[in-house]
Amino acid sequence: MSNNLFQDTDSILSEERIFPPTPEMVANANITAYMKSKGFEDYEAFYKWSLDNRFEFWDDMAKELHWFEPWQTTFEWTTKPFFKWFVGGKFNIVYNCLDRYMDTPIRHKVAFHWEGDNGDTRSITYEQLYIETNRMAKGLQNIGVQKGDRVAIYMPAVLEQIVAVLAVARLGAVHTVVFGGFAASALRDRIIDAEAKVVITADGNYRGGKLIQLKHIADEAVSETPTIEKVVVFNHQNLDVPMQKGRDIYWHDLLTDVPVDTVVPCEPMDSEDPLYILYTSGSTGKPKGIVHVQAGYAVGTYATTKFVFDIKDDDVYWCTADVGWVTGHSYIIYGPLMNGVTSVLFEGTPSYPKPDRWWGVAERFNVSILYTSPTGIRGLMRFGEEWPAKHDLSHLRLLGSVGEPINPEAWMWYRHNIGHDTLPIMDTWWQTETGSILISPTIIQPLKPGSATRPLPTIEADVVDKNGNSVGLGKGGFLVIRHPWPSLMRTIYKDPARYQTYWDTLPNVYFAGDAATIDNHGYIRVQGRVDDVIKVSGHRLGSMEIESSLVSHPAVAEVAAIGKPDELKGEHVKVFVILKNGIEPSEELAKELKLHVRTTVGALAVPEELEFTPSLPKTRSGKIMRRVIRARELGEPIGDISTLDS
Ligand code: WTA
Repeated sequence: MSNNLFQDTDSILSEERIFPPTPEMVANANITAYMKSKGFEDYEAFYKWSLDNRFEFWDDMAKELHWFEPWQTTFEWTTKPFFKWFVGGKFNIVYNCLDRYMDTPIRHKVAFHWEGDNGDTRSITYEQLYIETNRMAKGLQNIGVQKGDRVAIYMPAVLEQIVAVLAVARLGAVHTVVFGGFAASALRDRIIDAEAKVVITADGNYRGGKLIQLKHIADEAVSETPTIEKVVVFNHQNLDVPMQKGRDIYWHDLLTDVPVDTVVPCEPMDSEDPLYILYTSGSTGKPKGIVHVQAGYAVGTYATTKFVFDIKDDDVYWCTADVGWVTGHSYIIYGPLMNGVTSVLFEGTPSYPKPDRWWGVAERFNVSILYTSPTGIRGLMRFGEEWPAKHDLSHLRLLGSVGEPINPEAWMWYRHNIGHDTLPIMDTWWQTETGSILISPTIIQPLKPGSATRPLPTIEADVVDKNGNSVGLGKGGFLVIRHPWPSLMRTIYKDPARYQTYWDTLPNVYFAGDAATIDNHGYIRVQGRVDDVIKVSGHRLGSMEIESSLVSHPAVAEVAAIGKPDELKGEHVKVFVILKNGIEPSEELAKELKLHVRTTVGALAVPEELEFTPSLPKTRSGKIMRRVIRARELGEPIGDISTLDS
């Protein structure tokens, strides 16, 4: 949303509402306990200490996890920006999610309560999750999956999706989860780039009562991929799906002869071995495969889950994201399991069958920590306060938000209607690339509506101008991070040069691609992307992906896609289309083009607005100037930010 980039700065900087924590929150917080163990009573002093002693902080966090062999060097700069953490250690994240609890009381605790789209429920303990993960690891071994192999996971939000992820990582193989809402060609491109050997999918699933034919989509994708040897199909809905002999195998058939006492020991991995590849949209080109590694990623997600969500033994934690996005990886699976908490996994949608579905889920499972998105909140706000009011939400004690800027109005509604006017809201800023939350309050800090507040301990965030100089308090500019952190991506799969641009754009800092303001208290408010990434309902899309989809249609010559502000979704997509010579614009063609995006990328990328145009502004070298188009569309000045991504 670079559109209103520095324009509403004044109103944001003058946000005067401040919500301090209660003394009880401060006294009982996990972060307070850690501060005290380091001899600090005061958060400011502690934060300053953490900047000077970041390796001590991260060593402390790492020591709370299990290592097959300890690390020798906490951090290595040598091949900047290809940083390394916990070098020399032997580690497996899955051991820390499951195995280490098998001789503790957590063994019998519920790991996940699951609720299906149709209302079915199922709960699984840590022990059961351990058993199923071991069995699946064995099943995958039996079809040839080995350390380092890539396995694609294209599944709905069922417990088996989590088992699949953990089983792959247990073997030291690399998972690449593809969001179940993506279309066949999006799945195909990811499988091809990752050179995945196996894809794990399901027959199909319902979301909001609508059937998604996952197996059919997977078949279409796999027919064009050279590397897939096996397709494992979880029978979720008893759909009659075609099974290709020799290639396809049902999940239950894979496990028939695998007894419940099967143990496949966790592969002891080097700290820096890859854990997963997750594809995300960039400003140019095809989606990039963000690579996260075993140990640093684990330490980062473990520590942030513990401090930001302040996880306690008796909490029930619910993150409403999908496992297909990074939020699901870090804060549905890995962070919560490493903290031994009971979580909720929900397959459905917020307002199906009625607008109180989410609040019903929260009530049924006595959810105490809720982590969701601004779009989710805004979407439910419009149905009115009577829907949450029907439910007993008294177990809630902490709220979170992620994925896009939360407007102060939605923040206040969330606090008032869901948070009984008292609960703290953790507005967490981070990215697929950062692996874990970097800017967020903890439960002991004063909050301001619409602000992710301040960087977490050891994180040095700043707002700078285009030369990389701090703008100083009370101003706006580009958000940067000054020092690497453990869960930072290590590279872009098969494209290290593209990874390097994050550290090359501005001198010596990590350039996040976001605009932000910093107020007189040092509170940061992230405003949105300054590149060609569009955030629709918090989902990350690239202008280029939508454009390439449309130019693959025979009627289309050229396209420009931009994001426009949207009250509900944060942003929506508008495309400008130049048709090929001799083709006439029509309502029907517009519909057909939208459908084309749906079937090639996925429903989330469908443009809300489509305008036929005879020409588009271009640079001398022929590059379409999206920024100019957007400024024109929104009646705004272009400003000088265009230099950054030219
Ligand atoms: C945006 C999602 C404002 C931002 C975890 C970032 C946010 C992009 C916030 C990354 C927030 C995420 N406030 N904006 N609390 N959290 N963003 O990779 O533009 O899907 O660069 O990761 O989301 O999106 P991604």
